[in-house]
Amino acid sequence: MPVSTYPRRPLTSGGSPVPPLALGSWNTWDRMPHAEAAAMIRRAVELDAGFFDVAYYNMGPHAENSKTDILFGQALRASGVDRSDIVLCGKLWLWDWPNQGFGAQLRESLDRAGLDRFDTLVVGDYLAAPDVGRLVADVNELIDEGLVDSWGINNWRIEETRAALAAAEAEGLVGPGFAQLKYGIARRSMAEGAAYGPLFIDGTLTLQASDVFEGGILATGRMPQRKIGADVGGIREQVLAIYPDVERVAAEFGVTPAALGIAFCLANPATSNVLFGASRLEQLEQNHEALALARDHGVEVRAALEDFGVDRAVRDDGAW
Ligand SMILES: NC(=O)c1ccc[n+]([C@@H]2O[C@H](COP(=O)([O-])OP(=O)(O)OC[C@H]3O[C@@H](n4cnc5c(N)ncnc54)[C@H](OP(=O)(O)O)[C@@H]3O)[C@@H](O)[C@H]2O)c1
Repeated sequence: MPVSTYPRRPLTSGGSPVPPLALGSWNTWDRMPHAEAAAMIRRAVELDAGFFDVAYYNMGPHAENSKTDILFGQALRASGVDRSDIVLCGKLWLWDWPNQGFGAQLRESLDRAGLDRFDTLVVGDYLAAPDVGRLVADVNELIDEGLVDSWGINNWRIEETRAALAAAEAEGLVGPGFAQLKYGIARRSMAEGAAYGPLFIDGTLTLQASDVFEGGILATGRMPQRKIGADVGGIREQVLAIYPDVERVAAEFGVTPAALGIAFCLANPATSNVLFGASRLEQLEQNHEALALARDHGVEVRAALEDFGVDRAVRDDGAW
């Protein structure tokens, strides 16, 4: 059973509580030896991080032909972890939808990872606004088929998120229950701003924080050489510039900058889960310290980092 150092919260209104930490698959399992990946999965369950984001990176800006999802599936089977002890999150891409339908996308993704269902899934972002009514109906077909229970959105503009909620309400369908947004010490506009705020406050959505280290910058103070998430607002140099101060505050709390960054996100009451990448077991162990920090000193962590946001000029409604 997990070492429960932080209370679990439901990912979606009325849903089961989920682990507070989740591990991403983008550029992780494919940068780890198989045995370490299996050990990481086992340890994640023990550390209440048994929530795995499993996407097939195969189109649009992610036409990377990555095998990370296949490797995750192999490591999961080797880990011996019980399926009922973990949460699995799939991903649907909109880059070529509805040309590439959701059913085909999800089946291919499940098949590659050797899974029979996801617990939840995220519908990705877009360039042109999708037909939201059709999208909600298409996701609900997957729910009706038993392939997934709930869903959320990833960096959508507030307009389409509200339209999806309204369409689901009007048709008696399952609407999005959480928003996976870029969120961290330096980047706060969208997750804490006025556009999404009311939906978090009234419990319509929960927040899944992602890209919390800006691809690693806020964990190491270095700009990674590998491809990392999109830099909305072009603020990465400013993010990098605050690292020495982040390091100083982390030392004051006796944790790593990475653990501080996760604790910052967890201490926001809207947050149900913090999704991060870890490519070594040691990183997971360090990051787990965020749970005790957020539990014991969440308010102080937020206060110490109050002025560290560098994206004040970035729009909070997701348009960019
Ligand atoms: N919503 C979005 O826009 C968005 C964007 C990007 C990703 N995501 C999702 O979020 C997941 C995570 O994203 P990500 O991995 O790109 O970004 P991230 O979580 O911000 O950064 C992860 C990287 O930080 C470094 N790191 C983690 N813990 C550390 C520690 N304790 N000490 C030192 N370095 C540490 C590692 O770099 P090294 O491996 O190089 O050591 C790790 O790969 C993805 O798998 C994806 O599912 C979402």
